[in-house]
Amino acid sequence: MSEATQEARGTDSGSSKTAATETPLPAGVPSAARAPVRLRCAARGVKKSFGATSILKGVDLEIPEGSFAVLVGPSGCGKSTLLRLVAGLEEADEGTITLADRDVTRLPPRDRDVAMVFQSYALYPHLSVRDNLKFGLELRGTPKSEIDKRLDEASAMLGLGPLLERLPKQLSGGQRQRVAMGRAIVRRPTIFLFDEPLSNLDAALRAEVRVEIRRLHDRLKATTLYVTHDQVEAMTLADTLWVLNGGLVEQKGAPLEVYERPRTKFVATFLGSPKMTMLDGVIIRENGQFLAEGGGVRAVVDDDRFGSALEEGRSVTIGIRPHDLGLAKNGAPSVAELKVELVEALGSEAFAHGWLRASGPSVVARLDADDARSVRAGSVIHLAVAKSRVHLFDPKTGVALGR
Ligand SMILES: Nc1ncnc2c1ncn2[C@@H]1O[C@H](COP(=O)(O)OP(=O)(O)O)[C@@H](O)[C@H]1O
Ligand SMILES: [Mg+2]
Repeated sequence: MSEATQEARGTDSGSSKTAATETPLPAGVPSAARAPVRLRCAARGVKKSFGATSILKGVDLEIPEGSFAVLVGPSGCGKSTLLRLVAGLEEADEGTITLADRDVTRLPPRDRDVAMVFQSYALYPHLSVRDNLKFGLELRGTPKSEIDKRLDEASAMLGLGPLLERLPKQLSGGQRQRVAMGRAIVRRPTIFLFDEPLSNLDAALRAEVRVEIRRLHDRLKATTLYVTHDQVEAMTLADTLWVLNGGLVEQKGAPLEVYERPRTKFVATFLGSPKMTMLDGVIIRENGQFLAEGGGVRAVVDDDRFGSALEEGRSVTIGIRPHDLGLAKNGAPSVAELKVELVEALGSEAFAHGWLRASGPSVVARLDADDARSVRAGSVIHLAVAKSRVHLFDPKTGVALGR
């Protein structure tokens, strides 16, 4: 089904705000601060297969009113499928989907009041920007004065004023994307659904529109479910990040929380660029301290964080982000020696690629631009890492140790 059909079938109902769901607050928060949070969208135990292939295996998702949720995961993991289930373009095999406290699992798209923005924009080529923006509202019989009001608001917000009489083909990619967003905004839906809306833009424009989308959200507070495989988009846009892997939500949380405390190796390597380095190692004890040793690294670990998981002789996977591995300076103890293969100088910083051991994996360390000037292929540099930045995982299950 095209978006046009879907949009034409939308309604302006569905803003019932009845039942409320409590979200848990950290211990110690006074009960007066426990304001009820209404969910705008929830998926419970959602399963979906195509033929014999199970794509979603029991997905749970909750989006509070006014919040920006980003569903992130590798290509092919089922992100678009979940979005299409929320929109009603596919039907779930099992589980329920609610929008504004209404069970919509078996309802057709027209009864769901969602607006979707796609990578492909899906504008009507023969209609002007103005008519593209109005089309869905006119079909639904919205009064003309209301249409004009919403159109003025949206075009002012998105800077579409000078473009209103143009055809889509007379617009740049970024402008088309803004029109597609405008069309969603004038609908005032229960929820905005975005499916990789920036993928067709070049890198500079992508960064620009990304900021525009977040700015717009901060103004409108419109409940949003945004799907992307791009971890930078996910980190920068989300209030809450939902990481999808193998048909299940593997971790959810505030972006920085997930970045700093990934619960699995998958999440740890999926978020962050360059990727977290993973080394096979073992826990040792020396001078009353626990260390992780392996793959050419020997680093003190945080006993507060790992607690009883620290047993001498225990096999672990040691994870360190390139951004946390730098030159050992100012008396910081060296945790590893990197034999440099090449240096990528990015201007503001540099990445040294190389090996800690001839047989080990390639390792990346981040250097300050100035320090990198004296480092070249063949150099051997001493690296340091803060103990709070050493992650440990169970090598068999891939699950993070500690808190
Ligand atoms: N209508 C369909 N019929 C059969 N397989 C599908 C259909 N839609 C999606 N798939 C498959 O389901 C998997 C997940 O697809 P999708 O949700 O588009 O992934 P993502 O958006 O995360 O890249 C892919 O392997 C894709 O080929
Ligand atoms: Mg997709």
